[in-house]
Amino acid sequence: MEKIRHIAIIMDGNGRWAKSQNKMRTFGHLKGTDNVRNIAIAANDQGVEVLTLYAFSTENWKRPKDEVSYLMKLPALFFNKFMTELMEKNIRIMMMGEMDQIPKETAQVLIKAMDQTKNNTGMILNFAMNYGSRREMILAINHVLKDVKEGKIETVDEERFEQYLMTSKFPPLDLLIRTSGEYRISNFLLWQLAYAELMFVDLPWPEFDEQQFLKCLENFYKRNRRFGGI
Ligand code: IPE
Ligand code: IPE
Ligand code: MG
Repeated sequence: MEKIRHIAIIMDGNGRWAKSQNKMRTFGHLKGTDNVRNIAIAANDQGVEVLTLYAFSTENWKRPKDEVSYLMKLPALFFNKFMTELMEKNIRIMMMGEMDQIPKETAQVLIKAMDQTKNNTGMILNFAMNYGSRREMILAINHVLKDVKEGKIETVDEERFEQYLMTSKFPPLDLLIRTSGEYRISNFLLWQLAYAELMFVDLPWPEFDEQQFLKCLENFYKRNRRFGGI
């Protein structure tokens, strides 16, 4: 089995976890944010090249205003708390999603973190923020149409189309993990998942610890990826 390069995680179950502790949903998001640090460090230690985390979907705007604004404050909280450690670990922050709909202060925090870590050569910690896979594909198609109109290209094949996606700079997706016992994709990386291995874990995100993560890696290496071959 080839070494795992790119892992994506749907960090789900913060709200239900908080409820099970008789706490507010926001407490679950706070705990979840601490866990991002734990899993990012674990992935980096395992030599993973890219860890893509679903932090906020294009559909999450439907949530109550208070919850959305709390979620938008988490990047600042995360980087204030963990930036020193991320730098020590040589981790590079990136993001995918449409920045222009994100509150200005949140966008600024993300831009600052990307800038501060841009020369780091360790793992890329890629946050999907205001990301939706359908939206990503529509943006890609419109970009293709523009390039055709301008005479830059005539057609696209799979390889060329991938250049228009938000993951264009990253290695192919190897593994998707979703926590919280939900068995769905929720508009995440639809194109990129074509041959990724899927894992669904019953634990809510705040309880998904390093040990669980290592178990997922172990499970991954036991699988036989055929990509349509034999
Ligand atoms: C995941 O946890 C975090 C985000 C979607 C931002 P949820 O907030 O979806 O938690 P549940 O699924 O309601 O328990
Ligand atoms: C997916 O979780 C999005 C993120 C983890 C950011 P949701 O909680 O939004 O997904 P659904 O609504 O259960 O499909
Ligand atoms: Mg959820």
